[in-house]
Amino acid sequence: MRPLLLSAAAGLALCLAGTALTLAQSANQAQPGGATLRPAASFSNIANQRDRSVALFNEMGKVLTHPRCMNCHPVSDRPRQGDIRKPHEPLVVRGKDGHGAPGLHCTTCHGKQNYDPAGIPGDGHWALAPASMAWEGKTVAQICEQLKDQNRNGSRDLAALVKHVTTDTLVLWGWKPGKGRQPAPGTAAEFGALMQAWADTGAACPAS
Ligand code: HEC
Ligand code: HEC
Repeated sequence: MRPLLLSAAAGLALCLAGTALTLAQSANQAQPGGATLRPAASFSNIANQRDRSVALFNEMGKVLTHPRCMNCHPVSDRPRQGDIRKPHEPLVVRGKDGHGAPGLHCTTCHGKQNYDPAGIPGDGHWALAPASMAWEGKTVAQICEQLKDQNRNGSRDLAALVKHVTTDTLVLWGWKPGKGRQPAPGTAAEFGALMQAWADTGAACPAS
C-alpha cells in the first residue's frame, strides 16, 4: 500500500511540475516582442544610416539566436534539441560534411519532411551547419562579423546571404518546425526583408 501511495504522490508532483512548466512556457511566448519582428520599414525613422543598419541587425538577432536556428549552429559537433537547447539525444556528431558520422547519418532518423506523430523534424537536406558557422555562445555583434566574413560564411557576399536566408529550406524550416515546436520570431519574409534592408544600409554590425 505504502509504495503505491508514494508513487501516486510522485506522479501528482510530476504532473504539477509539468503544468507549471507549460504555464511558464506560454507566459514566455506572450512576452511583448518575443515572437514577433519589427517590419524593416519601421526603422526608416532612424536618420543615421549606420545606426539604422545596426538596429536592423539587432532585430535580426532575435531570429539568429532563437533555438530553431541555434540548435543547428552549435559550437560543438553535437546538435541541440528543443527550446531549452539540450544536447541531441541520442549522441550524434557533425561528421565530415555535416550529415553525421558514417553509419549514423542524420537521414537515418530525419526524413524529407517533419514527421509529427513522432515529433521528428525533417527536410530534404537536413544537416548540421559547419563549425565555421557556429553561433552558439556568441554575441549578436560577433555573429554579425562572422556572417559577413566570406572565409567563414561559405564564400557568400551580401546578396548571396540574403538569397540563402530567403530560399534555403533549412532556414525556412525555422518558421514551420512541426507540431510542438515554437517557430522562429516573425515570418521568413519579414526576416528576409530585415536582412535586405541591413545590406542596403551598409551591413553595419553592433559594436559589442
Ligand atoms: C537543420 C539544421 C539547420 C537549421 C535548423 C538552420 N540552419 Fe542555417 N545552416 C545549416 C547548414 C547545414 C548550413 C551550411 C549550408 C551551406 O553553406 O550551404 C547553414 C548555413 C546558414 C547560413 C550561411 C552563413 C553563415 O555564416 O551561417 C545562414 C545565414 C543560416 N544558415 C541561417 C539560418 C537561420 C536564420 C536559421 C533559422 C531560421 C537556420 N539557419 C537554421 C543548417 C541549419
Ligand atoms: C537516431 C536518430 C537520430 C539521428 C541519427 C539524428 N537525429 Fe536529430 N533528432 C532526432 C529526434 C527523435 C529528434 C526530436 C526530438 C526532440 O526534438 O526532442 C531530433 C531533433 C533534432 C533537432 C532539434 C530541432 C529543434 O529545434 O528542436 C536538431 C537540430 C537535430 N535533430 C539535428 C540533427 C542532425 C544535424 C543530425 C545529423 C548530424 C541528427 N539530428 C541525427 C533523432 C535523430
